[in-house]
Amino acid sequence: MNQPKMTDVAKLAGVSTNTVSRVIHHRGYLSEKTIAKVEAAMKTLHYQPNMIAQQLQSHRTKSIGVLVPSVANPFFGELTYQLERNLFSNGFKVFLGNAENDIQKERAYLQQLLARQVDGLIIATHNHQNKIPEYTDINLPLVTIDRYLNETIPNISSDNYAGGKLATETLIERGAKEIIHTDSVESFDKNDYLRNKAYEDVMIANNRQPITYKIKFNATINEKKKLYNKLFDEHPNVDGIFASNDVDAILILEIAQQRGIKIPQDLQIIGYDGAPTTKIMRPELATIVQPIQLIAKTSISVLKHLIDNKHVENKYVLPILLREGSTLKKLTTN
Ligand code: RIB
Repeated sequence: MNQPKMTDVAKLAGVSTNTVSRVIHHRGYLSEKTIAKVEAAMKTLHYQPNMIAQQLQSHRTKSIGVLVPSVANPFFGELTYQLERNLFSNGFKVFLGNAENDIQKERAYLQQLLARQVDGLIIATHNHQNKIPEYTDINLPLVTIDRYLNETIPNISSDNYAGGKLATETLIERGAKEIIHTDSVESFDKNDYLRNKAYEDVMIANNRQPITYKIKFNATINEKKKLYNKLFDEHPNVDGIFASNDVDAILILEIAQQRGIKIPQDLQIIGYDGAPTTKIMRPELATIVQPIQLIAKTSISVLKHLIDNKHVENKYVLPILLREGSTLKKLTTN
């Protein structure tokens, strides 16, 4: 007879598999009624939570799986560096994968990491859990960075809304009139568009028309250059651009300079990320700085709490700050 799965329990109880997982692991708020429904369904089906995976957890391997979109990106490169050095100093070895926003590649890595019996996973990829079933049935301590998955998996990110708001308000404060936002399109969760949401809210509050140009995170450089040249062709009077990451901000800066646009006189630019390598390579770029080291430390602390079956929150939102640069006009005091 086939062993009943978590999905069978969820179907019989009339709840999501995430809820079944939370009942099993006593995570998050659950009503008595929900707990009773799930427990009754487990009893009816003679469902046993994946005891092998749980037994495996007691035999720790002192290793952690880390998945990012690409370490070639300055933000994820710095994040991976901070995660690895912090984990190593905590006695953990790291298995790292570049998922490159490829669902099959991400699933292959997840299956490999589960087979290696890592003690936990830190996932910073852009794919959505609905396309990756391993995230639903996973019986391992798991935290996500950046992209929010669901209410049972802790998420650590910078304050994306505050960052988008600060970038847009700064451009307005420095005199920009026609401000355009550039963003990526990977995620499907409303939580992941907070930078864009903040930009739109500030523009509408200031009686301006929000305009956003979107492109996939791992689009080629030429594809991005084509889109940003189109932006300048379609908006010759644009005088402020808020880019949702520093790589795009630098591409836009280079295209503007090639087109003879004076920075910041004719066009002001603010990016998002603020990785140390970007500051070294492009010190002139004004940007919203994500606390990358703090994101890494917080993620590891939360994961260690999960491994030790201690309580954790569902969301950790960490503060951002504006780094000035010559792509911004100076703030006039008058
Ligand atoms: O530069 C990569 C971007 O992807 C970062 O802003 C990170 O937060 C993710 O959104």
